[in-house]
Amino acid sequence: MKHTTIAIIGAGAVGVTTAYALLLKNLGAEIWLADIDEAHTQGELFDLQDALSFSSTHTIRQVSIKQAAQASIIIITAGAAQLPGQTRLDLLKANHEVMQAIAQQLQALSPDAIVIAITNPVDIVTAMLQALLNHPKEQIIGSGTFLDSQRFRGFIAETLDVSVSSIHAYILGEHGDTQFPAWHSAQAAGRLLLDFAEMTPQTCDRIAEQTKRKAYEIINRKGATYYGIAACVSSICQVIMADKHHVLPISSYHKALDVCLSLPVVLGEDGVVRAMPTNLSDAEQVALEVSADKLKQSLRSIGI
Ligand SMILES: NC(=O)c1ccc[n+]([C@@H]2O[C@H](COP(=O)([O-])OP(=O)(O)OC[C@H]3O[C@@H](n4cnc5c(N)ncnc54)[C@H](O)[C@@H]3O)[C@@H](O)[C@H]2O)c1
Repeated sequence: MKHTTIAIIGAGAVGVTTAYALLLKNLGAEIWLADIDEAHTQGELFDLQDALSFSSTHTIRQVSIKQAAQASIIIITAGAAQLPGQTRLDLLKANHEVMQAIAQQLQALSPDAIVIAITNPVDIVTAMLQALLNHPKEQIIGSGTFLDSQRFRGFIAETLDVSVSSIHAYILGEHGDTQFPAWHSAQAAGRLLLDFAEMTPQTCDRIAEQTKRKAYEIINRKGATYYGIAACVSSICQVIMADKHHVLPISSYHKALDVCLSLPVVLGEDGVVRAMPTNLSDAEQVALEVSADKLKQSLRSIGI
């Protein structure tokens, strides 16, 4: 196995919940935590260590960001979180500075390392890291719309009264306000979703809106989201560690669009193996270009 040590940079709510999910899934022989707030991180570390006897992970320890560069998977959750009423793009400026500070200390990455961006706005942070780190683009990915796609599948499953595992459906584009549902490729148990009587245009619109709003609904009530994303990140790590070649809607660089956003890609131990062609309707293709343009505009505003 190529990847055994997982470093998490940013031991806030998302970082430590991810560490906990990794522990419970027995992923990573070693898990490392790095954060500028060393005292708080030590507290989280002591707490997480108490779960080690129930996991095949043998060590969890606190490291500097420079030491985190030596891990084989590096998850970046450091930075400011989205506040009530704030869009993900509002975070752009603050988190650009955080990524510059972190990237300066991550220059000695091991050649096989996979970097996973979670910090928002995640598509832009993925592109920032690709620009700042001297590392292959296929090995720097973002969680993108993987979380939104789970929310989407959940709402569809509820509507059809079937298990979420029977739903194959993606939210694509930006992890943010221009994301769009790929209805024309969405299926339940091998049948196109749009062929189900329950999936009227009104229901489809409601599900797409509920999916897009869900992060805001959570943040408005409890201030942050972390369980869903932690489950997604641990699942991404599992795919990478076991070289599963699963097709996931995660953020990666797409040459034709010249930007990082989510389209289905094949993921393995070397990162993105290839993009998986997907059927988009004309309207979905337009929505993809709207996402790409918005992201490129944001990147230009910070000189990338
Ligand atoms: N991609 C997704 O689907 C998704 C989902 C949920 C949250 N997020 C994002 O994840 C990020 C983290 O959210 P959170 O709730 O854990 O926030 P948090 O405030 O709880 O934690 C952020 C941590 O980053 C640390 N930090 C800040 N600057 C740093 C630096 N220069 N070096 C090292 N550590 C630094 C802070 O000390 C803090 O511990 C946010 O940007 C949030 O929007 C993304």
